[in-house]
Amino acid sequence: MRIYELDTLPRSLYPQLGAFALSGGEPPQDIRFVRDVRKLPTAASDYFAVYAVEDGQLLSRIETLDLPFRGHHGTQRVVGVSDVVTRPDAVGRGLARTLLREVHRRAVPQGRTWSFLWTHRSWGAHRLYESLGYEDVYSPPSALGPFPSRRRGRRTVGYRVTRERSRTGKRLERILTRSTLGRLGFLPRTPGSFEAKYRLGWRKPKNHLLLWQGRTPVGFAHIPEESRWSLGVNEVVVAGPEHSEPMLRALEKAAGRRRVAIQGTSYVRDAAELLRGNGYVVLESSHRVLMAKPLVSPTTYGEDVRTACSDPALAIHRGDMF
Ligand SMILES: CC(C)(COP(=O)(O)OP(=O)(O)OC[C@H]1O[C@@H](n2cnc3c(N)ncnc32)[C@H](O)[C@@H]1OP(=O)(O)O)[C@@H](O)C(=O)NCCC(=O)NCCS
Repeated sequence: MRIYELDTLPRSLYPQLGAFALSGGEPPQDIRFVRDVRKLPTAASDYFAVYAVEDGQLLSRIETLDLPFRGHHGTQRVVGVSDVVTRPDAVGRGLARTLLREVHRRAVPQGRTWSFLWTHRSWGAHRLYESLGYEDVYSPPSALGPFPSRRRGRRTVGYRVTRERSRTGKRLERILTRSTLGRLGFLPRTPGSFEAKYRLGWRKPKNHLLLWQGRTPVGFAHIPEESRWSLGVNEVVVAGPEHSEPMLRALEKAAGRRRVAIQGTSYVRDAAELLRGNGYVVLESSHRVLMAKPLVSPTTYGEDVRTACSDPALAIHRGDMF
């Protein structure tokens, strides 16, 4: 078995690249897609990914990010492990484990002392990560609103709501920056990341509901999908706590006769009291979990960033789940 990174991967293997996503039931992400991703301002690491190859077959793959992490003692760069996949006919042979070790090995000389990844507690991969020293450090909360009552549709004086139209993403970035001042986590988010997501087709501007106070945009909510039964929201960002309630009213108005379902965003924890007071069921955690592993010994890594992850100041939204 040989390990390659994207730039050293033999061209003859390019046709197999897209199949990893297919095996997970997702659309193929072939070499053209990967090249587009690399051209955009994403947090992809310089080597992008590592691949395990044997007998002309691409068997396992891990993509990696180089992310900022703001802790109690400042910001450092950390490794973000994403898209860990082994081809179904090659599982159980230690390939993912070997690639993860390779990612860790590469990170230390570059000064990285922590590695993070997202997974689900109930997935087999969780055991693999634990055996390599990763531990659960955070799990995103969620909240489900009550069935609508007559109160719904009340406007909050001084606020109005529009849908985002701009494709630059700059306005959303500014709101996010304001909302995360003094907060901890994968901050600041890569400049240009909203525009990158639009260009890759991962998000649409119009799926962002914008909350204005007068002429100032003070919040946004990403609504990736709407069903007949609920309005699903996975990134709710407000520039200050005083905008939490107007945002909730805006979401409820957008939901109309449907329930509001909020997932994977710090808004739930920040506004938990408000949500509960309005009849929402608030779940403090989910099956999704953030895991972290120190890449060096405790005497060398300085701040233990795991403590930042249990601090209420942690701000994590869907866009921080890689
Ligand atoms: C999870 C996945 C990447 C593992 O790849 P792999 O190459 O088979 O993993 P390895 O052989 O290196 O690791 C094996 C270890 O992982 C754990 N493991 C892997 N799959 C497991 C499963 N289904 N159930 C329980 N443990 C599992 C075991 O601890 C095992 O250790 P052992 O061999 O000492 O028993 C692969 O099953 C896969 O691609 N799954 C679908 C995509 C996915 O879930 N990716 C993870 C996203 S977070």
